[in-house]
Amino acid sequence: MNSVELRQKYLKFFESRGHKIISSASLVPDELVELSGTQRVLFTTAGMHPLVPYLLGAPHLEGQRLTNIQRCLRTDDIDQVGDAVHNTFFEMLGNWSLGDPASPDGVGLGGYWKKETITWSYEFLVNELKLDPKRIYVSVFAGDKDAPFDEESFNIWVKLGMPKDRIFKYPKKDNWWGPVGETGPCGPDTEMFYDMDPKAAGPIDPSSDSNRFVEIWNDVFMQYDRKIKNEKLKMKNDSNASSVNYYYVPLKQKNVDTGMGMERMLMVLQNAPSVYETDVFLPLIKFLEKEVFVKFKYGREERVDKAFRITADHLRAAVFLINDGLKPGNKERQYVLRRLIRRAVLQKELWGEKKSKLGKVVSVVEGVYKGSYNFSVTNISNIIDEETRKAEVAVGAAMKIWRKIVETSGGPVFIPGRSLWGVGESVKRTFDAKIVFDLYQNYGLPIEITAELAREVGGKIDRGGALELFKKHQESSRKASQKTKGGLVVQTEQAAKLHTATHLLHQALRDILGHHVHQTGSHITEERLRFDFSHNEKLSDDQIKKVEESVNQKIKENLTVYKKTMPREEADRLGAIGLFDEKYGDLVNIYYIAGTEDMKSAFSKEFCGGPHATSTSELKSFNIIKEESAGSGIRRIYATISG
Ligand code: SER
Repeated sequence: MNSVELRQKYLKFFESRGHKIISSASLVPDELVELSGTQRVLFTTAGMHPLVPYLLGAPHLEGQRLTNIQRCLRTDDIDQVGDAVHNTFFEMLGNWSLGDPASPDGVGLGGYWKKETITWSYEFLVNELKLDPKRIYVSVFAGDKDAPFDEESFNIWVKLGMPKDRIFKYPKKDNWWGPVGETGPCGPDTEMFYDMDPKAAGPIDPSSDSNRFVEIWNDVFMQYDRKIKNEKLKMKNDSNASSVNYYYVPLKQKNVDTGMGMERMLMVLQNAPSVYETDVFLPLIKFLEKEVFVKFKYGREERVDKAFRITADHLRAAVFLINDGLKPGNKERQYVLRRLIRRAVLQKELWGEKKSKLGKVVSVVEGVYKGSYNFSVTNISNIIDEETRKAEVAVGAAMKIWRKIVETSGGPVFIPGRSLWGVGESVKRTFDAKIVFDLYQNYGLPIEITAELAREVGGKIDRGGALELFKKHQESSRKASQKTKGGLVVQTEQAAKLHTATHLLHQALRDILGHHVHQTGSHITEERLRFDFSHNEKLSDDQIKKVEESVNQKIKENLTVYKKTMPREEADRLGAIGLFDEKYGDLVNIYYIAGTEDMKSAFSKEFCGGPHATSTSELKSFNIIKEESAGSGIRRIYATISG
């Protein structure tokens, strides 16, 4: 079965069980998602991420049963890319219950909960995909101080005929999913594994042998909302997560979130040794054989295969990211894209044809995903080629430095071509952690590549020391990014009120400074709002006062916050402001703040996912605490409310 058939089969299976098919959200979450209550993440890392507001209770326009194929990007496993199962970009097939329907006692009686979810997963695997039931293993949550052993899931598996010695109990570290950020929806899960080596002896713990077992599906039962016990303590300790006390409260709405990794399932269905031998990757591997790593054949030599795999993975991810509107650059997300391309270029420099054009990969990727994704950005290949040129300079510089280090250590002299190095003295040297770290930091040379290069010349690297430096560096950059990015948009009544204050502020700024003002960022904590907007000058004291007065006036008028769903064109016509992203379909949510239900009389109208206060009087009063620059042409306001 190929990828196209798998996508169709999956969506059809759940559609015929009452699920509405929704389209994939962008890989690059926008401010709308942030405003609607998700921790700001750089990328969509799981199918649940774009759905968080709905998992927390906001009504979804398509109802409570949904199914989708979400494109995702994760870079935390980037050093494992090149093995059999890890990718940066991947697709996640999911079926969702947004509390459908709320069963009388919340758990397990009727509705769409564990029994339905697990039974459907099993039926899909065995009846539709024709997997051998004897090769399926599962795990359930073992229980701990926060939540009990998931006996219900255990019993459902037993009833479906799963022998007890193929049901494993794992702790939270393995069998619990979420929240996406530090707080939010989460819960125990049950995971399904497939035995890729049916001839191997007897049932063993699937987590103990990642070569033999592939994790194929994860059914998450979102029953809990994780909260932080002492927000103040946490802020003081900044990134020191271990000192943070979490507690778990049952979610009002019990949700189901399942995620089946597309590439891994294809590997199983196509009986492939790795995800790279499936139909979503083979055309890319062939392209690389023909155009880039022309001196090599895939499947002969492990370290060269790794170069093929890393390049295929990273270029595919880059194509999707650029298609979602991202450009390579030096900031946050853009930098991730730059590094992906840079790592691919490094592989090309090491093993490939120097002159080959990586941008040609775009038409290959488009071919693989024809009919499943629209590639609307027309210059993706130019962007990749241009970035490749820049990367070649950086990687070239790294290699020059490396060669010098080797040569001054008395090692062999570099000869380009089939083998990396000419024959010469080997370097019986351990290369310092600092060298490894600098090559990574300044030129993007990953640690495993430097290790490989060191081996090539008969030396090794101080891996332990380098990892130590990496860890230190990661900690300090995490701290820095937490300071600038902040933590969560907290889902509480307080945050909802501050969110309403944000809309009032937005409109007041437009009234007082002019209609060039529009939101460029927003971030809400329990204590304050932060609002970034386009404007060229510092606000005068008088302007700040006027803005405050305008918002306070609207609070005094006790206006109601209304929500209306309407076609996008109508919202545009009525002058609603804010961002719009086509992924929400033709119908959009508008929140408007008005004295009567008539939207024309509204003070503020914005596209938004909520949540909000019910009326402005709940805010009590509004106070701007700081106004500052947030970059060229952008101002930032911090404000609080007393309500
Ligand atoms: N959120 C879960 C995962 O990403 C299931 O979709 O594995």
